[in-house]
Amino acid sequence: MLGKQSKLNRCVNIDDLRQHARHVLPAPILGYLEGGADDEYSLNRNTSAYSDYELIPRYLLDVSDIDTNTTVLGADIDMPLMLSPTGMSRLFHPDAEIAVAQAAENSGTMYCLSTVATESIESVAAVSNGPKMFQVYVLRDPGLNREFIQRCKAANYTALCLTVDVPTGGNRERDLRTGMAIPPKFTLASQLSLAMHPQWSLGQLLGPRFDLPNVSHLLSGESAGLAERLQFIFSQFDPTVTWHDAEQMITEWDGPFAIKGILSAEDARQAVAIGASAVIVSNHGGRQLDSVPATVDCLSEIVDAVGDRAEVIVDGGIRRGTDVLKALALGANACMIGRPYVYGLTVAGQAGVEHALNIFRTEITRDLALLGCRSVTDIDRSFVRRR
Ligand code: GLV
Repeated sequence: MLGKQSKLNRCVNIDDLRQHARHVLPAPILGYLEGGADDEYSLNRNTSAYSDYELIPRYLLDVSDIDTNTTVLGADIDMPLMLSPTGMSRLFHPDAEIAVAQAAENSGTMYCLSTVATESIESVAAVSNGPKMFQVYVLRDPGLNREFIQRCKAANYTALCLTVDVPTGGNRERDLRTGMAIPPKFTLASQLSLAMHPQWSLGQLLGPRFDLPNVSHLLSGESAGLAERLQFIFSQFDPTVTWHDAEQMITEWDGPFAIKGILSAEDARQAVAIGASAVIVSNHGGRQLDSVPATVDCLSEIVDAVGDRAEVIVDGGIRRGTDVLKALALGANACMIGRPYVYGLTVAGQAGVEHALNIFRTEITRDLALLGCRSVTDIDRSFVRRR
C-alpha cells in the first residue's frame, strides 16, 4: 500500500487529488461531496465557465520576483486563495477541521469554519493562530447568533461570514438516492459501499465521535442520539432572516464581515449599504438553487457595483491557478475553494490539504510570471477577455 507522501506525490493537480478521493470515499459520502442541486447545471457551469475566459499575457517584463501576498478582510495572507466553509469535515477524515485549520495556517491563508463543523469554534482556535473566519447560518434562536459572535470574539476570529443562500436546503438528489439524508437512512447499496471502503470506515470507527459541537448544546437531554441531533439542528435553519438581521449582526460583530452567497449587483449593493466589508460571490458550490449562473460570470457586474467600497471574493469551480488569475483580472480581491481542499483532506488529512494549497500556490506563482505580472495587484481587466 502506498504511503501518504507517495500518494500525494502522484497528485500533480487538483483533479488527481479528486480521483484519489473518489477511491477512498464510500458512495453516500462521495455523493454528498460531489453533488449539487437538481440537474447540477450550476455545479458544472461553475467549473466549465472558467474556460469561457482567456488570459492575455504581456511579455519582456522582469518577472523574476513574484509576490502572491495580499490582504483580505483585514488579514495578510500569502496567496489570494482562502478555504471556504464546508460542513461536517469529519465525514472525510477523522482529523476533520483541525487538520484543515492547521494546513491553512501552515500555508499562510485564512480558513473559514462552518456552523455545521464537526469541531468547535474554540477547538479550532486552540490549534491555529492563523487568520480565521467563522461562517454563520442563522438559526431560529436569535440568542445563538449573539452567542456565536461572542464566542468568535473571545476566540480571536478575524472575520465573520453570513451565508445567505440557505432559506431552505437545496434539492440534492444524489443524497436522496444514497440515503445521505439528515438523519442518514442508508440504502443497502450504501451500506455495502461503506463496508467496502476500509480506509474510510476504519478512520470513522477509530476517530473521534461525530458531533456538530457549535450547535449541539441546543439540544437538551444527554441521551439524544446523533440522528436526532442532526435532525434538530437542520430544522433550525431560519427562513425568516432578512437584511435587518444581517445588519444587526454586522453592528454586533463590529469587525471584518462578509456576506456569502451574493449573485446580483442589487444584493451586493444592499450588503455594502448595511455595512458588510466583503461580499462573497457564491452559489454554494451549486448545492442550493440550481440554474443560477456560474459565479465567475457574476463577477464583473458585482465588482462594478461595489468593488470601490467593499472587497469582492469569489468561490465555486476554481480548480487551477489560471482560474484564480481570471477571477482577479475580473476584479476579485481573492478566491475561495471548497471541494479541492476536501479532496486533499480525504486523501491524507492535513498533509493532503497542504498539498492542495501547494498545488495552487505553485500554479498561481508560475501563471503570474507567464502572464507578465509581478504581483496580484498588477492584474486588471486588460489581462482577460471572454471568448
Ligand atoms: C453545507 O453547507 C452543504 O452545502 O452541504
